[in-house]
Amino acid sequence: MRKEIIKVGLLGMGTVGSGVLKILEMNREQVKNRAGAAIEVKKILVRDLHKKRPVNIDRQQLTTDPRDILHDPEIDVVVEVIGGTGDSRRYIEEALRHKKFVVTANKDLMATAGTDLLLLAREHNRNIYYEASVGGGIPLIRPLKHSLGANRIIRLLGIINGTTNYILTKMSMEKMEFETALAEAQARGFAEQDPSSDLEGKDAAYKLCILAMLAFNCHVRFEDIYVQGISGISKRDVFYAGELGFAIKLLAIGEEMEKGLALKVHPALIPLDHPLASVYYENNALFVVGNAVGETMFYGLGAGALPTGSSVVADLIDVARNINHQVENGVMETDFQAKSVVPIDELPSAFYLRLQAVDQPGVFARLATAFGDARVSLDMILQKRSVGGMAEIVLVTHAVEEKSFNLALETIKSSPVIKKINSVLRVIEK
Ligand code: HSE
Repeated sequence: MRKEIIKVGLLGMGTVGSGVLKILEMNREQVKNRAGAAIEVKKILVRDLHKKRPVNIDRQQLTTDPRDILHDPEIDVVVEVIGGTGDSRRYIEEALRHKKFVVTANKDLMATAGTDLLLLAREHNRNIYYEASVGGGIPLIRPLKHSLGANRIIRLLGIINGTTNYILTKMSMEKMEFETALAEAQARGFAEQDPSSDLEGKDAAYKLCILAMLAFNCHVRFEDIYVQGISGISKRDVFYAGELGFAIKLLAIGEEMEKGLALKVHPALIPLDHPLASVYYENNALFVVGNAVGETMFYGLGAGALPTGSSVVADLIDVARNINHQVENGVMETDFQAKSVVPIDELPSAFYLRLQAVDQPGVFARLATAFGDARVSLDMILQKRSVGGMAEIVLVTHAVEEKSFNLALETIKSSPVIKKINSVLRVIEK
């Protein structure tokens, strides 16, 4: 029977939960028209019944008992915006067992337990919608699942962490030091008080896990992703990258190669004419290459109450239509098989190297020999006037297997004329 009202239970009322309520209020008529039914939030699970809330709600809607939502037969959909992988997982499992559809914004959970939860949803003839789990308001899950479904996805290249992109943009545009840019990101509310998950690349790796599962139609283990963060990046590297025609970005990369999947998150130099190079500040973008569509890019705000709420409400509209048309198309993300992941040292990459050397005859020759012996070809080389008998040399190689570059680097490190290796970064070639 067709439902005039689709009833929702909201688990959590933090930033995203409040955004969802605001959008349901602000765009009520449009949401109703698109959903084909009114969407009504019947109950909201909170920790504190008396806390002041940024949206108008009837206090009767609030509860501290999850059973008021999970066991209520009138509630059709459970929206989980608590985050974390503990209670949220238990609640989602219970919701599915009680035959409820689930909408979640939880990337950590979908990255680490998404496959198990989707299997559970399939078992109960229900589904999990998680557009908000990656890229906030940017449509990414639906495009990979549906719109690009006819393609074999060759490559994903993404800026999927706003905090680090904000910091790197500030370092580049305003010549800020890393610490100053981080403090500003924190003051403006982009970076958490403990920003380690963002800075170390973990947040981006969770998101890559979800995107790669959809793009490459397989189960992806978080532990298989190579992760390196941005805390080693200095203002000098950002400056040299600019001189050489590159921007430095924290990239999430997924690629299906003949010998397996490449899955990695690391800072990299990207050519200034690549569309991702002009993704600035807290914005996110995903560049997708499909074998039929070619290159596409999705861009926008990757976090925040309204952008993330926008994705949650879009999922609710889908659920409402599916309930009323009885057309749930099943769990179609993945066949849940793992594919082999190529170890980082067997992956090809070009490299940027900045080092300090004694300014004397034969230094370049030694560098050239070390690279030549390891079969590494040089693309660019830069030396500024030396200070106090010390020269700063910056060079960029062509793409090689990482282990070849590392071999050359070991030889360089052991040379008495090389005083310090300042930084090693990967390069996305033109
Ligand atoms: N902390 C994330 C970011 C947003 O800075 O992009 C939530 O995943």
